[in-house]
Amino acid sequence: MTYNLLIRRGRVIDPASGRDEELDLLIQGDKISGMAKSIPEPEGAEIVDAAGKIVLPGLIDMHVHLREPGFGHKEDIDSGTKAAAAGGFTAVACMPNTEPAMDNDSVVYSVLRRASEKGHVRVYPVGAVTKGRAGKELAEMGEMLKAGAVAFSDDGSAVSTSHLMRCALEYLTAFGAPVIEHPEDKSLSEGGQMNLGLNSTIAGFRGIPREAEEIIVARDIALAGLTGGKLHLTHVSTAGSLELVRRAKARGLRVTCDVTPHHLLLTDDMVLESGYDTNTKVNPPLRSKEDVEAMKQGLIDGTIDAIATDHAPHHVDDKWVEYDYAEPGISGLETAVGLILDKLVRPGLISWSRMAEAMSLAPAKILGVPGGVLNEGAVADITIVDPEREFSVNTRDFKSKGKNTPFQGWRLTGMPWMTIVGGKIIMRNGTIVS
Ligand code: DOR
Repeated sequence: MTYNLLIRRGRVIDPASGRDEELDLLIQGDKISGMAKSIPEPEGAEIVDAAGKIVLPGLIDMHVHLREPGFGHKEDIDSGTKAAAAGGFTAVACMPNTEPAMDNDSVVYSVLRRASEKGHVRVYPVGAVTKGRAGKELAEMGEMLKAGAVAFSDDGSAVSTSHLMRCALEYLTAFGAPVIEHPEDKSLSEGGQMNLGLNSTIAGFRGIPREAEEIIVARDIALAGLTGGKLHLTHVSTAGSLELVRRAKARGLRVTCDVTPHHLLLTDDMVLESGYDTNTKVNPPLRSKEDVEAMKQGLIDGTIDAIATDHAPHHVDDKWVEYDYAEPGISGLETAVGLILDKLVRPGLISWSRMAEAMSLAPAKILGVPGGVLNEGAVADITIVDPEREFSVNTRDFKSKGKNTPFQGWRLTGMPWMTIVGGKIIMRNGTIVS
């Protein structure tokens, strides 16, 4: 099928080529077929007037919980991928802490089948490293790769032992797929409610030390060195973790990492200031000002490769409880772009190109999936942003079933305006049209 779309006069940002200029962009079928200053209108093409808008390679969120199978009351593939499209994402990688866990090829197949029936954006399954995510024996990762998994993680937990992590990294070198590690030593974090520090003392909560994260980061970097494997550390949150990643990169190891918008913007002061709002409870916990500053610096200097939301939708019953009973997690897909634009791009901390790199090009490279670039012949996955549009975060507007956000009521400038997947408009001005 030929589907012609002509995107007119948008400011096109392509971090791979360094391109940043006003261009027309022609889409034919599911590919970009032309990019030039002025492209004549092809017959029958839909014209999108993108003057004043920013045209980016389709954003890819490499850490999302779609909760299917097993937790449809929190989210499912339909609602989660609608939230992704509304948030300007053309693709998501979905984590395996489902019920049953995504630890074998049949669950991967079923998620992909559901995504082809109900999904609104591309869905890339992340298989479990160990069977049942139980940390006892390796799952059949080769079979899952054949079924369509792109990476492996025991997310929610770290891979339980050094031995299993070594085996996983070694095994996956044959396929080039990464292990996405959730760095947390549970023997240090168990029972913790928030970052260990003055605030946890004031609150009277058990604190989670930074070392719970950094010990696993250090262990895994050592194992990446031993095996030559591809290690991706997800939701890093401490200055110490970044120092370890910085040194690993300097050694030439195949180590990458991502940060969430909330760890870039919020500190543990918010737990107290919000009156113990359970929407501030997240794993890893919100950290100190120094850590947040280090995250920003790491994003600016490239120590941090990607921004991922760790979209963790929860049911109201999981959050409307005392702080220590609340589930950790933030519903992040529909606030990420606004937050990054308003708090990092507009004030000039990072450029548009750096944003597109962290939210599109780097995730595509790390996962080994199409997208991340805007050039002739590339897949037509495109995010168009309105940089001047102001809005207030309002969970009533969320397509996600998860209304759990600490950003409710924040006024932000800059909003996803159009999401195009494989040449088809999926979201237009906040409305899902597919
Ligand atoms: O806050 C979190 N929520 N962190 C995780 O690692 C897991 C996630 C979830 O599944 O709810």
